Amino acid sequence: MEEDKDIIREKIENLRKQIEKHRTLYYEENAPLISDYEYDLLEKELKELEEKYPQFASKKSPTEVVGGTVSKGFSPVVHPSPLLSLENVYSEGEMNDWLIRLKKVVERDDLEFVGELKFDGLSVALFYENGQLIRAATRGDGTAGEDVTQNALHIKDVPKEISFKNGNLVVRGEIYMPIKEFKEFNEKREEEGLEVFANPRNAASGSLRQIDPSVTAQRPLSLFVYQIMVCSSEIPPTHFECLNLLRQWGFPVDSFSRILKNGKEIADFYSEMVTLKASFPYDADGIVIKLNSIELQNRAGSTARSPRWAIAYKFPPEQAKTKIKDIVVQVGRTGALTPVAILDPVKIGGVIVSRVSLHNEDEIKRKDVRVNDTVLVERAGGVIPYLVRVFPEERPDDSKNFVFPDTCPVCGGRIHKSEDEAIKRCSNKNCKAQLKEAIRHFASRESMDISGLGKILVDKLVESGKLNSISDIYFLKEKELSEIDRMGAKSAKNLIEEIEKSKKRAYARILYALGIRMVGVETAKILAEKFHSIDLLKKASEEDLIKIEGIGPKVSKEIIEFFRIEENIKLIDRLKEAGLTLEGTKKTEGPLKGLTFVITGTLSKTTRVRAKEIIEELGGKVSDSVTKETNFLVVGAEPGSKFEKAKKLNIKIISENEFYELIFQKE
Ligand code: IVH
Repeated sequence: MEEDKDIIREKIENLRKQIEKHRTLYYEENAPLISDYEYDLLEKELKELEEKYPQFASKKSPTEVVGGTVSKGFSPVVHPSPLLSLENVYSEGEMNDWLIRLKKVVERDDLEFVGELKFDGLSVALFYENGQLIRAATRGDGTAGEDVTQNALHIKDVPKEISFKNGNLVVRGEIYMPIKEFKEFNEKREEEGLEVFANPRNAASGSLRQIDPSVTAQRPLSLFVYQIMVCSSEIPPTHFECLNLLRQWGFPVDSFSRILKNGKEIADFYSEMVTLKASFPYDADGIVIKLNSIELQNRAGSTARSPRWAIAYKFPPEQAKTKIKDIVVQVGRTGALTPVAILDPVKIGGVIVSRVSLHNEDEIKRKDVRVNDTVLVERAGGVIPYLVRVFPEERPDDSKNFVFPDTCPVCGGRIHKSEDEAIKRCSNKNCKAQLKEAIRHFASRESMDISGLGKILVDKLVESGKLNSISDIYFLKEKELSEIDRMGAKSAKNLIEEIEKSKKRAYARILYALGIRMVGVETAKILAEKFHSIDLLKKASEEDLIKIEGIGPKVSKEIIEFFRIEENIKLIDRLKEAGLTLEGTKKTEGPLKGLTFVITGTLSKTTRVRAKEIIEELGGKVSDSVTKETNFLVVGAEPGSKFEKAKKLNIKIISENEFYELIFQKE
């Protein structure tokens, strides 16, 4: 019996250690190793053991304290009252148990609730004084958070001024990164050779907790506010009215919140949100049920970790079991070698998943992934498939260990690994896989936008030796193209025309298209603005570059390195020879001079980036938000809130077609 107790104690201690390790990875490093669901299971297991064996309970246990700390580099901000966490439930049964407990605590049967979405981001407290934002803080350890005021000032959704002007107000909300923006942001990072974030929550947390606020400024962050923590004036008696008041004061408040009268309505709200989940533009990992009466909330009170008057009812994880058929190594534009598991296709959350990145060799070892293994795959954050774990107990005899190749699987080139990276790279500058990726990037929509020069054609042109460098694109002949398998004379002619058109692209775009490591769209724009020609940029020293706002030491090193390589200098010379303009042509004069445009919704005939460039080329300005100074709002499909705002302010609203008519008249 004693021995059993020792085993239990050891198990509890082990679970506490594991949970603490995962909390550090999640809260401080924004790089969790396990999915939220797996983490919740660990907490649940620990909680159950602590309840069953109260002799091992501890006030310091992770089940008793809020996760997270205040990182060095930020000043601590003490919260006016603790920013508590929430207890989780996973089933209707557990939800009903909570209802019964709550009814006992408040000694009432006729309770009313508010159902809200549980946004998957990071908690912030926003402090206002007479209507002005004076401070923003992360949750930290719950008692004190990190001062992120300068960063919050750069987030569009965070109101800098509100209409409540009578003294102090502290509100709590969630900073998040919308899914579409997250995808684009990660794609850019991938193109820049930077590590990608596993899900929108990590991206939001990593973006807000930046020492340099100008980095936060470039990240697409949003906000929902869901609680008044402190208010100098009396607040309404119910939570639902508080949400409406917050909305009136100018805060973004989610519109899915609803009053729920009993367990049945809570269950229905949950099912409805599970069904709608895939259509939300942001990530939600459950619903939160809160007592509506503030007086009863106070009566119910809180534990050191969470309020008794609210509960998180988590959505089921989007996971599926499948088998690994093979592990292949993909070669990226910058030579990065990424192992990818080829799966028996499975449907997860309505999407067929047939590949999952294994990131690098260390990850494969850590998870002990082998070919023919049965694995659990999750669509983390609803977007990127992620390998949660393998089932070693289901491992067949023919499972095979993955051996990372010694040489590049495409060109046979030498592989190298720098100390500060987990990934290995192919060192051969002439590697065909890298060349294909570099050409694809150059021709892509955000780069030179050469429509017709897609993946398959690039492969064929490289394989047949017609493209040996990016610049060869501009020396392709119509006849050569029509010789390519399945390429008719008409397509060949069209492609040549597209290539010809691309010669007129703006200098900043060409800089981005060159594929300099770590130089994304925004960085390329900054460079084009500071150095009016590529020859000036080539001459810039590392010191010159570091001085520029938005260009860090790593980016500077990569730029210097790019111009050191002979092949790149040749590429630039040949692009010039082909007729591309590698210098600034940005106009401050032009037919759209003095006019400010805002674009909302999805455009069907061009990208927003290109539309912005066209407006700027014609001397106009493009702004992100609608104000009284806006002259035109261009409306694409599924417009956002800008549409309503423009109507309110009586701004001229034009369709995508009207926009083209306008610019063609002016061009
Ligand atoms: S209420 C005392 N409401 O979930 C009030 N939290 O796992 C506690 N969260 O730390 C918070 N959406 O960061 C509340 N609608 C919502 C929420 C929400 C997301 C987060 C919050 C909290 C975490 C708990």
